[in-house]
Amino acid sequence: MNGRVLVTGATGSMGAAAVESLAAQGIPVLMACRNLEKAAAVRESVLGRHPQADLAVRKIDLASLDSVRAFAEGLKADSVTAVFNNAGVISKSYSITVDGFENTFSVNYFGPWLLTLLLLPKLPPDARIVNMVSLTCRFVTLDETTLRPTERAFSQLGTYARAKRSLLSFSLELARRHPQLRVNLADPGVVASDMIDLGHWYDPLADRLFKPLCKKPVDGVQPALRALAAAEGVRYYVGKGDRAVPRRYLNPALDTRIWAETERLIRV
Ligand SMILES: NC(=O)c1ccc[n+]([C@@H]2O[C@H](COP(=O)([O-])OP(=O)(O)OC[C@H]3O[C@@H](n4cnc5c(N)ncnc54)[C@H](OP(=O)(O)O)[C@@H]3O)[C@@H](O)[C@H]2O)c1
Repeated sequence: MNGRVLVTGATGSMGAAAVESLAAQGIPVLMACRNLEKAAAVRESVLGRHPQADLAVRKIDLASLDSVRAFAEGLKADSVTAVFNNAGVISKSYSITVDGFENTFSVNYFGPWLLTLLLLPKLPPDARIVNMVSLTCRFVTLDETTLRPTERAFSQLGTYARAKRSLLSFSLELARRHPQLRVNLADPGVVASDMIDLGHWYDPLADRLFKPLCKKPVDGVQPALRALAAAEGVRYYVGKGDRAVPRRYLNPALDTRIWAETERLIRV
C-alpha cells in the first residue's frame, strides 16, 4: 500500500491495534482522534516498538460537524490515500449533539459520512475507504426516519445497529457513485474492547465471564487491515476471509434515499 492511512478512533482498542500493524509494515498513519492526550500516549507506545514509524496526529470530534469540516479543511490534498472509518460509540442513553443529531448516529454515521465526502477531492480517485460495520446490522431495518431517532425510539443496541446499518448503506452508495474508489466493509465480530461495556451493573461480571470469549482487538481488526490492502471493492471482510456483501443489505433504491436524506439533514 502506498501513501498515508487515516485512522479515526486511533486511541481505541482496534484503532490502536490498526496503527501498530500499519506502523510495523512501514505504512505512514494519520491518527484522527478526539482526545489528543490519549493519542499522544498511543503514538509514543507504538513508536517505542517501531521507532521508524511515521505517525501524525490530528484532532477530530465526530460528534461535531464543525470539527469534521475543520479537520477536512486542514488536510493537504494527496496527503492521505486511504481512510479507515473506525471510530465508534454505543451511547448509554439518549443525547443530542451540537448539530441536533443523536450521539451514536453522529459518531458512527453522520460524522464519517461528512468526513469521507469532504475528503474525496483530496484523495486519489482509487483511494481505499474502509468502513467498520457490525454483525448487529442484520437485526435492524432502515428508512429515512431512523436516521434521527426520537428519545422514545432510542435503544442502546438498536440505535447503534441502525447507525452501523446506515454506514453500510452509505458505503454501497458511495461505491456506486465513485466506482474508481475501493470501498470495503469490515466486520470485526465481537471484540473485547471498552465498547462492549454497556454501562450495566453486571459489566464487571461480564468482564470476567464474557470478555475472555471475545476476540482480542488485534484479531478483531484483521478484516479491516485486509480491506485496507484490497485491490478492489466492494467486499464484506469478516473472520479470516471476505465475501460479497450479503444479499440482505442490497437495496440500491433505499441507499439512494438514505443518501438524499442525509444530504438534506447535514445541508451539504
Ligand atoms: N468491539 C466490538 O465488539 C465491535 C463489534 C463490531 C464493530 N465494532 C466497531 O469497531 C470500531 C472500533 O471499536 P472498538 O471496539 O475498538 O471501540 P473502542 O475501543 O471503544 O474505540 C472507539 C474509538 O472511537 C473513538 N470515538 C468515540 N467517540 C468519538 C468522537 N465523538 N469523535 C472521534 N472519535 C470518537 C474513541 O475515542 P476516545 O478514545 O477518545 O474515546 C476510540 O478511539 C467501532 O466503529 C465499533 O463500532 C466493534
